[in-house]
Parts: sequence; structure tokens; C-alpha cells
Amino acid sequence: MDLRTDFCGIELEGPVLNGSGTFDVLAARRAFGPALDRDFPFSAFVSKTITVAPRAGNPPHRLWEAPSGMINSIGLPNPGLDGFVEGDLLELVKLPVPLIVSVMADSAEQFAILVESVAAVSGVAGIELNVSCPNVHSGLIVGEQPSETEALMKALRPLTSLPLIVKLTPNVAGPESVAKAAESGGADGVSLINTVKAAAIDPNQVRPWLGAGAGGLSGPAVRPIALAQVRAVAAAVDIPVVGMGGIVDGESALDFILAGAQVVAVGTESFRDPAAGNAVHRGLSAALEQRGFASLAEAQASTLT
Ligand SMILES: Cc1cc2nc3c(=O)[nH]c(=O)nc-3n(C[C@H](O)[C@H](O)[C@H](O)COP(=O)(O)O)c2cc1C
Repeated sequence: MDLRTDFCGIELEGPVLNGSGTFDVLAARRAFGPALDRDFPFSAFVSKTITVAPRAGNPPHRLWEAPSGMINSIGLPNPGLDGFVEGDLLELVKLPVPLIVSVMADSAEQFAILVESVAAVSGVAGIELNVSCPNVHSGLIVGEQPSETEALMKALRPLTSLPLIVKLTPNVAGPESVAKAAESGGADGVSLINTVKAAAIDPNQVRPWLGAGAGGLSGPAVRPIALAQVRAVAAAVDIPVVGMGGIVDGESALDFILAGAQVVAVGTESFRDPAAGNAVHRGLSAALEQRGFASLAEAQASTLT
């Protein structure tokens, strides 16, 4: 089965990526050695989200197991731009697949610093913009506002010819309006969904379980929400869509392709099985064959209406 596909001008051997922040590839390399590169679980790798200044992340607890999923309030711990560029990035550009770097900031100026610095590094194939943070000037969460998202894209678009992918939040009434704004601002693609706002109570302590008070739900629990949002967004824009949210196997990946996603990403499932990306790739191939598709491209053209 031919699973090759183009994503925003990046040639991929298959359509399975990782969700940002859900696969520590450098730890996996230490654990599995060269075997990881020989059978790399994803056809492109998305880094965890990087910010200009280092971040410690949220106080514990940071995880809660929910029915069919998990809630996390990790809070984007990262070494900051300089630490990343001088550290992990040197290794990430050597991965056997194209590298997409995820960045987040609280102003267009800080986003510009991140985009220009990351784009200057040879071996970076694309940049994902995590827009789930409030804008320090307006107080509004950029990814919840079409106008903020479009303005941000217009500011960043001239800075690089690399593909810019906007990671949409599901915590809005209409993600398709934000997706359309990202497209008209110059985005090359959109990815969705990020985690769904969620909370858990510690009944013994009579207070929220998570140190940050609340967090984001991911895993199979969010899949039906993700499918509805991917369908709506794919119908609204002409740029490619990365579909994710609860993908665990080939069948669930195919759901997203038929909903209009060009490629898919595996997140929470990789915590249970670090080889989940390989299993989804193989399972998607089998699922396509079973449905009588001759290639991934044929399924991509059969989007449900
Ligand atoms: C522990 C954890 C950390 C995450 N970190 C990030 C992150 O750094 N940046 C980001 O854009 N999304 C992050 N996400 C969201 C995932 O990339 C993905 O959008 C979401 O989990 C839905 O996919 P899934 O249900 O397959 O996990 C994180 C999710 C989890 C569970």
C-alpha cells in the first residue's frame, strides 16, 4: 500500500506524525538505540513546544488518568529558545524523518523571535505555532480569536518560507472560523485538536487533583470531538489538516483521513506503547486495503461530506 503523501510541501513516507509533547524522542533513543532509527515510529517528528524563556512547567500533580484518556497540566516545561537551539535541536535535526518545531509565545514579537531563530537552523522542515496562550497585549487567547490568529499569521508569514502550521485549540465554539483566519493570514496548514479543557477532583484532599487546578483531556475520550472538529475545519479550508485526538490504531487513523485530514498524529497512545506510531502506520495500511482503497491518496480524495 502506497502511504506516501505531501504535507505542506514536505514529502513524507507515510501520514503518521506524533502530537507535540507526547514522545520524548531523545529518551527513546537512549532506551532503544539505533533500533529506533531503523523503524522510526513517525514519518515526521514534531518537537515539544518551545518558548523564548525557559519554563519549569506547572506544579505537581500533572497527570490524572480519566476514563478512556488522561488529563495533563504539564505546562510546557522547556529549556527556552537558546537552550533548545544549543541542546536538543542539534540532535533532533539528525532524526531520520523531517522535523517540525513547535513554538509558543505571548506576543507577535516573541513569536517572531522564535520563528526566525528556528527557521535559521538547517534541517528544520516546518514550524508549528501553538496559539493556546493569552496575548500579553490584549489578554485574549490568540487561538480562540480569528482576528488575533489572522494578525499573528500576517506578522509571521513574511519571516520564513518554511511551512507554518497553526495548532488549533478545541476550546472554542467554531474552530473552523479560526482555521479560516489562519489560512487567510498565510498559514500553510492547521493541526487539531489540542487537549480539551478538563479538571479532576482529589476527593481525599477536597481540592483539585492537578497542581494547576485544571488541565487538558486527551486520548480516546476526545476522539469523537476531534473528528467533528476535523471534519468542520477540513470542509472550511483549502490548506492541509493534521488530524489528531485519541488515535490508537489504523481504524481510528482512517476515521480522521475520511473526515478530511491529510495526515494524522498520535499522542497519548505513545505513552502506553512507544511503538504506537508504527502500529498505526501498519494498521492504516491494512484498513485501507480492507476498504478497497489502492493508496492513501485515494482515501484522501474520498473525504466524507
Ligand atoms: C502529556 C502531554 C503533553 C503535551 N504537550 C504538548 C505540547 O508541548 N504542545 C502542543 O501543541 N500540544 C501538546 N499536547 C497535545 C497533543 O499534542 C495532542 O494535541 C493531544 O494530546 C490530542 O491527541 P491525543 O489524544 O492523541 O493525545 C500534549 C499532550 C499531552 C497528553
